[in-house]
Amino acid sequence: MHHVKLADNIYYLGYNDRRTHLFENIWPIPHGVSYNSYLIDDEKIALVDTVERQFIDDYLDDIHSIIGDRKVDYLIINHMEPDHSGALKAIVAKYPDIILVGNKKTFGFVESFYMKPVNTHEVYDGHVLELGKTRVQFQAIPMVHWPETMVSFEETNQILFSGDAFGSYGTLDGGIFDDEINLDFYEIEVMRYFTNIVGKYCPHTQRAIKKLAGLDIKMIAATHGPIWRSDLNWVLSRYDKWSSYTFDNGVIIVYGSMYGNTQKMAEVIARQLSVRGIRDIRVYDASKTHSSYIINDIFKYKGFIVGSCAYNNSLFPNVETLLSTIEHMGIKDHYLGVFGNFSWNGGGVKNLMKFAETINWDLVYEPVEEKGALKKDKFEQCIALANAMADKLLG
Ligand code: FEO
Repeated sequence: MHHVKLADNIYYLGYNDRRTHLFENIWPIPHGVSYNSYLIDDEKIALVDTVERQFIDDYLDDIHSIIGDRKVDYLIINHMEPDHSGALKAIVAKYPDIILVGNKKTFGFVESFYMKPVNTHEVYDGHVLELGKTRVQFQAIPMVHWPETMVSFEETNQILFSGDAFGSYGTLDGGIFDDEINLDFYEIEVMRYFTNIVGKYCPHTQRAIKKLAGLDIKMIAATHGPIWRSDLNWVLSRYDKWSSYTFDNGVIIVYGSMYGNTQKMAEVIARQLSVRGIRDIRVYDASKTHSSYIINDIFKYKGFIVGSCAYNNSLFPNVETLLSTIEHMGIKDHYLGVFGNFSWNGGGVKNLMKFAETINWDLVYEPVEEKGALKKDKFEQCIALANAMADKLLG
């Protein structure tokens, strides 16, 4: 393999996955994903995280091609999710004397996923591991996005090995560093990675950002996606914005519609929002667009309007799935609108109102519910709902 150096003695060992359709078996990755591991070659040799298990053979070969028959002394485990710990057993089998470096939460995961670890070195905030001239310092960033999550900071070149934080979906197609790629491509993939994977833990992310501000970081090497070295603020400012629930003045309208009547209501609402001057309006059919993308836009825009037809006296199932994902993620501080349609007994809007109660966002207008085709009275109500949302956003 072609080794990419981050510094004289620090290597990127990354692998592109273009086969997996769903990351964590939930989130679509049409542009793939990379798994990034790093190797520090000093008097002592350390790996920082490993890779997903499908790449074990290549990974072992590539390590050997750098260090030959020398042994790896340490495996620094920033994060135990199997996309990074997948090669742990293979590494321990090949280098049986290796010392696993983690914090007090890490080794329990090692045991439950793989085996009782033999050689361990427990670290804590500010603890330094000396590899020769290279010093690596550790800081816990719990729940970004697992309990054991920590980062490792290499002091000479000031490289932060950040785990999932500041990572991205999307393979690394030749370019590895942020100055070697067109960031327009990664803009949505960095955000989707954050919102899908880390988004439930915004307060923890805020704490992590403040904690890491105490380090003089020159490069951020995450476990997925590009390595940040030319403009760290590009990714840091975005993380700060997203994790502080700072939204733009746009509106997402999501609907579930079987015969087109709920969709028509969505179109009326969208048009009126546009008439009122809202420029970012995204209308999604919940049956077509995966929640990965809708969640992303909910982290972008302040307004959320959801519509559902009735389905067997309940919510349309694809809307229900989306709403449960939103509730699970606990996204805060939105303006909410609700509408829907039914043919016999209803059940859509009634359950949307249960969601409204649970999520506790600011409901801008009464729910609008039509029976069958959209008629004048409910048409006007759709306009009024759009106006109420526009008033909130523009007011
Ligand atoms: Fe990329 Fe949380 O693992």
